[in-house]
Amino acid sequence: MKALVLSGGKGTRLRPITHTYAKQLVPVANKPILFYVLENIAKLNIKDVGIIVGDTGEEVKAAVGDGSRWHISVTYIYQDQPLGLAHAVKVAQRFLQDEPFLMYLGDNILLEDLSPLVQKFNNSSPNAIILLTEVANPSEFGVATLNEKGEVIKLVEKPREPESNLALVGVYLFDRHVHKAIEHLKPSWRGELEITDAIQWLIDNNFRVESHIVSGWWKDTGKVEDLLEANRIILDTQTDCIKGELHNSTAEFKVVIEKDAVVKGSKIRGPAIIGKGARIVDSYIGPFTSVAPGVEIVNSEIEHSIIMEGSRIVNAGRIIDSLIGREVIIQRSQNHPRAHRFIVGDRSDIELL
Ligand code: G1P
Repeated sequence: MKALVLSGGKGTRLRPITHTYAKQLVPVANKPILFYVLENIAKLNIKDVGIIVGDTGEEVKAAVGDGSRWHISVTYIYQDQPLGLAHAVKVAQRFLQDEPFLMYLGDNILLEDLSPLVQKFNNSSPNAIILLTEVANPSEFGVATLNEKGEVIKLVEKPREPESNLALVGVYLFDRHVHKAIEHLKPSWRGELEITDAIQWLIDNNFRVESHIVSGWWKDTGKVEDLLEANRIILDTQTDCIKGELHNSTAEFKVVIEKDAVVKGSKIRGPAIIGKGARIVDSYIGPFTSVAPGVEIVNSEIEHSIIMEGSRIVNAGRIIDSLIGREVIIQRSQNHPRAHRFIVGDRSDIELL
C-alpha cells in the first residue's frame, strides 16, 4: 500500500499566516501538523509516500526532506493549481499506479490508530473505506447519509442543508477504481474536482464503499480556533520534561521546556511547551500555550496561544487565544503619545480589549 498526502492548497481560512507559509507547516505543540500526519503513516508501516505540493512546495520539501526521519521514502508531486482533492489524485496517478493507497489530508490531525482499518481494507478488499465523525457544523465538510443498515448511500460536499451530522474525515483508503471514478467527474460549484463526488460515483456504480466512525479526536485545522483546539489536545497529552534552565521560576503541570531555553523570574502553568533557545523573562505563560524555538517573551502574560519561531513579545500586557506568526514583534513602547502603532500584513486580525 502507498500513501498520498495532500499538502498543497492556499489555506485561505488561515490568512495572514498562510500568505507566507504552508498551512500544513503551522506548528501545533511546536511540531508542524504535517509531521503528525507522516508519523501516523510511518506507524502503519507504509514506506512509499507521495506528497502533493503547490505554491508552498519548496517550504514543504525543506521541512520534510526525503522522509528518512520517519523511515519512509517521499516522492513530491507538483499540482500547479489547487483544483480539488480528486484532481490531486489524478495528478498523482503515475506515482500511485494501480496500487491501493491511503489518502491523508496534510492539515488533518487524528488521534486514532489506523492500523485496524488498514488491516480490514487488506483482508476484506472493499473498493474504498471512508472515515466519518459527528460534528456540530456539518455544512463545512463533506456529509454522509447512511441507511438503516449503516451503509453509506449518499455523500454531499459542504451541503447547505445537511442530511446528517456525519462529516467526512480527511483520511481515505482507495483501490485503483477511484481513478476510474475521477475520470467521470465534473468540477463542483466551487470549481474543484471533489473526492466526495468520486466516492459517490463508486457508490452509484455498485462498488463497495465502507465507512468507519472515528472514535478518537479529529480536527481539520483549517481555522485559527481549530488550530488552538488541536494545540490544547496535543499539549494535554504531554508529560513534564525540563531540559532548559529555570531560574527563580516555577513550572507546573505538563510543562515541556526544551534544551537551551531560559526561563527567569517567570511562572509557567501547563500544559505548555517552551521551545529550544526561547527566553522567558518576568512573564507568565498560561495553560495551552506553545512557544516556538527562539521566541523571546519579556514582562508579558500569554495564555492559550501559539507563538511561532523567532517572535518577540515585550511589555505586552496579557495576550490570550492568539496565533502569532514567525518573527513578529509585539512591544509596548515607553514613548509618548501613548497610542497603538501597527505595521501589520494584509488580512491580519487584531482585537483590542
Ligand atoms: C475536505 C473535503 C471534505 C472533508 C474535509 C475534511 O474539505 O472536501 O469532504 O470533510 O476536507 O478535512 P476542504 O478542506 O477541501 O474544505
